[in-house]
Amino acid sequence: MTADDLRRRAVRAVWHPYTEITSFEASAFPVVERAEGCSLFAVDGRELLDGISSWWCVNLGHGHPRIVEAIRAQAGRLQHVLLGGVSHPRAIELGERLAAVAPPGLGHALFAADGSVAVEAALKVALQYWVNRGVAGRTRFVALEGGYHGDTLGAIGVGFVDGFHAPFRDAVRPALRAASPHCNRCPVGRAPETCGVECFASMEELVREHHRECAAVVVEPLCQAAAGMRIYPPEYLRRLRALCDRYGLLLVADEIATGFGRTGATFACEHAGVTPDVLTVGKGLTGGALPMSATLVTDAVYDAFRAEGGRARTFFHGTTFCGNPITAAAALAALDVYRDERIVEGVPPRGAILAEGMARVARRLGDAPLRTLGLVAAVEIPEAAGGAACARAVVRRALELGLFLRPLGPVVYLWPPLNAPETVLREMVARLERAAEDIARTGAAPPG
Ligand SMILES: Cc1ncc(COP(=O)(O)O)c(C=O)c1O
Repeated sequence: MTADDLRRRAVRAVWHPYTEITSFEASAFPVVERAEGCSLFAVDGRELLDGISSWWCVNLGHGHPRIVEAIRAQAGRLQHVLLGGVSHPRAIELGERLAAVAPPGLGHALFAADGSVAVEAALKVALQYWVNRGVAGRTRFVALEGGYHGDTLGAIGVGFVDGFHAPFRDAVRPALRAASPHCNRCPVGRAPETCGVECFASMEELVREHHRECAAVVVEPLCQAAAGMRIYPPEYLRRLRALCDRYGLLLVADEIATGFGRTGATFACEHAGVTPDVLTVGKGLTGGALPMSATLVTDAVYDAFRAEGGRARTFFHGTTFCGNPITAAAALAALDVYRDERIVEGVPPRGAILAEGMARVARRLGDAPLRTLGLVAAVEIPEAAGGAACARAVVRRALELGLFLRPLGPVVYLWPPLNAPETVLREMVARLERAAEDIARTGAAPPG
């Protein structure tokens, strides 16, 4: 079977998400048949560096042998059993291990498969928490402009991204939106040197005015990833924790993208010394090998779901494969690797390499603003330098040069596996720099 044959069958039989159908059909897209470490191997013989960790999840590289072995071993013993009214050792161990690595106090794990479903669970937990406590009317959420929390309808309500979700605008209940604390484009016009987190006033005002109708505030801590890697300071989170405490709102931290080391701490909340009431994780939980997510909650939240005064207060929410033993075994192995290979400790030095290289890329793209945090580095191409069209051209050229990326509007970014060897990191940056140089020079992707 040739690559062309597979491409023909792919466009006929598979609906590729976040992919424009007509232009995709016309392109020689990669058909990946194998992957190892930071490399994807396509059936036409191409080797591509995975510059975005396959949608931000393959934190430990493709095919980590310890995760592969854990999957094999578990598959031979117990593939699946439900978690309703039954438990199993891998789920128990994983709940305990997550409680041990998460910010203190998040001792109870509700499992799912995808990040969006963990967010849906978090929203429903927050809503029912108030119902169970006998408090009526807390049916809304406060979120940030530019937030993204997944593509299910509830998640869209708190994470509306215009470019993705406009067709569903009238079908979702929108959250109340505070200004995005986007340091590159400070909403109150401050520079980092003079920042007093004045942008927090917008959040403060909303919560003060609307807290009686709200169940929770939902944020991506420190990095609004899908909005184009918008970075904001830990002080914002500290103030948000204090604000939620003052007004009695739950704080939901969505660490599906930032969790497990991406920002240079196991969880971004650690930079602020904050424990949310609800924490969502996914993506890197299994090192990106298998789909698994979790919604972690504090004792106070969990206990609100126990029967009280003879009245059941059960959470009637579950998905068939939640806590699946094979995915849980993969997650346990991934947690071992994070610990034994000191993955988080390796992020700051790798991040410095990435930041230095991306500064060169930014210069080649019209002095685009650069934003970095841990092992995330993004440049936003100014409109004058071509904006989103330029970003698409750079990404196409990078693919020709053996680097797989996807743009976020006018933003080009790298989100490599956290254990990428230094040489590979430098190679990713070099390929991106060359792509940027070619596009800046020619204005389009040259052939070959
Ligand atoms: C912060 C955040 N939350 C939730 C999600 C949704 O996760 P999933 O795509 O696994 O449903 C994403 C996905 O990118 C995300 O970045």
